[in-house]
Amino acid sequence: MANKNTYALISGGSSGIGYEIAKDLAARGYNLILISRNEKNLKNCSASLINEYGISADYIACDLSNKDSVSMIYKACQEKNYTIEVLVNNAGYGINTPFHITSIEDEESFIRVLGTSVISLTKIFLNDMIEKKRGKIMIVSSVAAFAPPSAIQVLYGPIKTFMNRFSDALNKNYNRYGITSTSVCPGFTVTNFHTASNVQDLMDKVPSFMKFSAERIAKEGVEAMLKGKSLCIPTKTYKSIVFLLKIIPYSLVRRLESFFAPGRYK
Ligand SMILES: NC(=O)c1ccc[n+]([C@@H]2O[C@H](COP(=O)([O-])OP(=O)(O)OC[C@H]3O[C@@H](n4cnc5c(N)ncnc54)[C@H](OP(=O)(O)O)[C@@H]3O)[C@@H](O)[C@H]2O)c1
Repeated sequence: MANKNTYALISGGSSGIGYEIAKDLAARGYNLILISRNEKNLKNCSASLINEYGISADYIACDLSNKDSVSMIYKACQEKNYTIEVLVNNAGYGINTPFHITSIEDEESFIRVLGTSVISLTKIFLNDMIEKKRGKIMIVSSVAAFAPPSAIQVLYGPIKTFMNRFSDALNKNYNRYGITSTSVCPGFTVTNFHTASNVQDLMDKVPSFMKFSAERIAKEGVEAMLKGKSLCIPTKTYKSIVFLLKIIPYSLVRRLESFFAPGRYK
């Protein structure tokens, strides 16, 4: 349960996993600030969270691919005297155009949303957390961080791997200040992600036992974050898959991948 001016800030909090994290935290009494680009969605989500859970919820519409967005978010929080006790770095999307065809500007925006903005948001709120000697950080990463390289979305897996290492390094350096970072690595999750990333046709071919609801992912992720765990791979299915990926020969992984994630590795 949060104090009056204490908030959880959630990037990408207006849809999918981020919105389910918002609902889960609201049910636990946390006040919320949601970040994404679409102001109308943010307004609707905030209103329904206030209505349903009786918490305070605010939103900041901005594009995290814009390098000024993070300082703008921080300034808005300071002006309203919001203390950020929980930071959920969740916003993300995929690029479904071959790497040799996309523009470098598109790749840089992608790196900024999934990588640089996560680092900047964490950096800008970290000093306040250190001062208060408490803070919870979540980075919504992906099972892609452990999976073989994909034939689509060349940079997606590498960025998620980077984010896992970044989260580990935060724990190493800031646990002593009462701050923990949890890397949450979902597998295929039913959200708007695949439509937004133009890969819904590939998602439709994924076996149903490998698809989970955003609500389930959020619940396991929030529980892990509140317990201060460093890594959360939601669901037994994906815990087992990641375990197997670490122990079975790579040649076998390459043979199985086209069955479990058709099109992803062609
Ligand atoms: N779905 C999966 O299968 C899956 C699996 C593993 C990991 N993940 C990760 O889970 C996270 C959440 O994805 P999701 O599945 O919940 O997708 P989603 O339903 O499409 O939600 C993505 C959220 O990010 C926001 N967003 C996207 N680009 C943004 C930008 N440039 N600036 C600010 N906000 C932006 C979106 O809002 P606006 O469009 O309004 O900006 C939306 O609120 C991502 O980091 C993704 O990599 C997803």
